[in-house]
Amino acid sequence: MKLLTTIFALAVLGLTSHASAQDMSGTSASDSPAAEFTPERIEKGRQTYKQLCLRCHGPEMNGGNNTFNLRLFPLEQRERFFNSVMNGKRAMPAWKSVLSEEAVMDLWAYVGTRGGTLQR
Ligand code: HEC
Repeated sequence: MKLLTTIFALAVLGLTSHASAQDMSGTSASDSPAAEFTPERIEKGRQTYKQLCLRCHGPEMNGGNNTFNLRLFPLEQRERFFNSVMNGKRAMPAWKSVLSEEAVMDLWAYVGTRGGTLQR
């Protein structure tokens, strides 16, 4: 059972990295998380962030004193980002009934580039 889960997870990972490779219009830089951080994604992420996340995490993404500082979210923990955003974490609501996986990818690009300010 555990093996099946692992195989499934690997298959999903393979599919998503394939999709992001296509987004990069044919480049093969899909191994690096930064390959997902296209300007289009960052921009869509910005809109979603403003609508849904800003009220708690703040305009600078640093959450003020009482929310998680998204600027410090570790870039190598993409799965954790997806999991926390989709399923929620303690006082943080779950977003899976609101956001598509695509939309979370866009948010990841926005957060992962710290609002588009980080060099890719
Ligand atoms: C109602 C307030 C609220 C809203 C709205 C909100 N968050 Fe959060 N978020 C929190 C709180 C509180 C935490 C800290 C959770 C904890 O660890 O206790 C958090 C934590 C996080 C974390 C870190 C989770 C981890 O793995 O440690 C991420 C990533 C995150 N939020 C992303 C988002 C995104 C993206 C949105 C918009 C779709 C969003 N949040 C909207 C309150 C909110």
